[in-house]
Amino acid sequence: MQIAPSILSADFANLQAELQRISHADWAHVDVMDGHFVPNLTLGAPVVEALAKVSPIPLDCHLMIDDPDRWATDYAEAGAGSVTFHIEAAHDPVRLARAIRAAGARASVAIKPGTEFAPYEELLDEVDMVLVMTVEPGFGGQSFMADQMPKVAQVREAVRRRGGEIWVQVDGGVSTETIEQCARAGADVFVAGSAVYGADDAAAAIDRLRELAQN
Ligand code: DX5
Ligand code: ZN
Repeated sequence: MQIAPSILSADFANLQAELQRISHADWAHVDVMDGHFVPNLTLGAPVVEALAKVSPIPLDCHLMIDDPDRWATDYAEAGAGSVTFHIEAAHDPVRLARAIRAAGARASVAIKPGTEFAPYEELLDEVDMVLVMTVEPGFGGQSFMADQMPKVAQVREAVRRRGGEIWVQVDGGVSTETIEQCARAGADVFVAGSAVYGADDAAAAIDRLRELAQN
């Protein structure tokens, strides 16, 4: 069970210090938004490169951008440990996943709430993780979509059938209220933005989430 706090809810004027607050989490989740694939704009590869140099933990880059085929390897080269692209945006997902891995990062594919997983099952041969979105991508602090739990279970089952170690990540509205149902459905990597950075004690919030996920 791994916890990946999202720095989308951190203080953007103090990102180095904000990364230190989550230093005993497994990953720092970095939401890259381009104002096209989603109606919000955050940061790009130069900022990721700067963060990678000072982060105490590896960066998990979630690309909510158009044309990831063109841009995703920049994030691997910038030092991200994991790079996730959206299936809805990718032109050639197999080639893209291979390019991310060749650039030295784990490759991962994300699916929006309205997207079915079944047509993409064969991609499990190419990726290290599947991200099942539990909100519409674009903003932190939205309500958790429990109706995505059957999809989490479906991905987990496909991973089990195929064998090998592929992680199943959930992202959006994950909190002490919702993390247990995600774990029960088969998730093993949990992104939490507001639930961690909104807490006075981020380290305690991470511990509590981890404990609930392990139950
Ligand atoms: C949403 C982002 C999430 C976001 C989660 O588009 O992908 O990573 O930061 O924030 P919370 O945990 O507050 O829903
Ligand atoms: Zn995210």
